[in-house]
Amino acid sequence: MGEVFIFDHPLMKHKLTLLRDKDTGPKEFRELTNELAMLMAYEVTRDIPLEEVEIETPLTSTKSPRIAGKKIGVVPILRAGLGMLDGILQLMPAARVGHVGLYRDPDTLEPVEYYCKLPPDTENRDLLVIDPMLATGGSATAAIDAVKSRGVRSLKFMCLVAAPEGIERVREDHEDIDIYTAAVDDHLDDHAYIVPGLGDAGDRLYGTK
Ligand code: PRP
Ligand code: URA
Repeated sequence: MGEVFIFDHPLMKHKLTLLRDKDTGPKEFRELTNELAMLMAYEVTRDIPLEEVEIETPLTSTKSPRIAGKKIGVVPILRAGLGMLDGILQLMPAARVGHVGLYRDPDTLEPVEYYCKLPPDTENRDLLVIDPMLATGGSATAAIDAVKSRGVRSLKFMCLVAAPEGIERVREDHEDIDIYTAAVDDHLDDHAYIVPGLGDAGDRLYGTK
């Protein structure tokens, strides 16, 4: 059974407060989203398997650990998930990147898939699906479906703000997945926006509203 990890690091809490503030403009919103994603990815990758390799330092030969096997793959859900990507790539520049394009139909609130391109060898990689917002959970579930259907070794989902409804949905549909979030908010409003939330993450990242 997957677990839900809610981060409580003071730096993450502070940055999330700035992100929620309605007066935070797109430039700062983008910076904060990437910073938060980087801090979270640092924690999320704690269990990456290592292997001992023999190396030569300038003084001697020694055994030292390095990441074993294929590097991690990161899969942003377009478009708001892209806002977290650069922060993670700063930490793991060799990560492969897949993309799942989904938007939430404003009437039905159901996710509509319009794009999916993943690294060719996902079955040999640990993948991290990223999206700032987990609201009804429809988009996350659909993205995880899309990734799983192509074969994957292991999968985690990371968001900045989750609603209890979204967590429940992902756990129902994908009970094997670990969910990582910086906050679990109170509820969804009538338009399935997270309350208190931070508004529409995509619009705030890209200044489209
Ligand atoms: C937002 C967000 C998630 C989704 C969450 O994307 O980035 O992908 O909504 O809602 P859900 O859990 O109810 O599915 P949106 O559909 O607004 O698209 P965008 O990223 O292109 O702005
Ligand atoms: N998508 C967002 O960007 N924000 C929400 O609160 C819910 C869905």
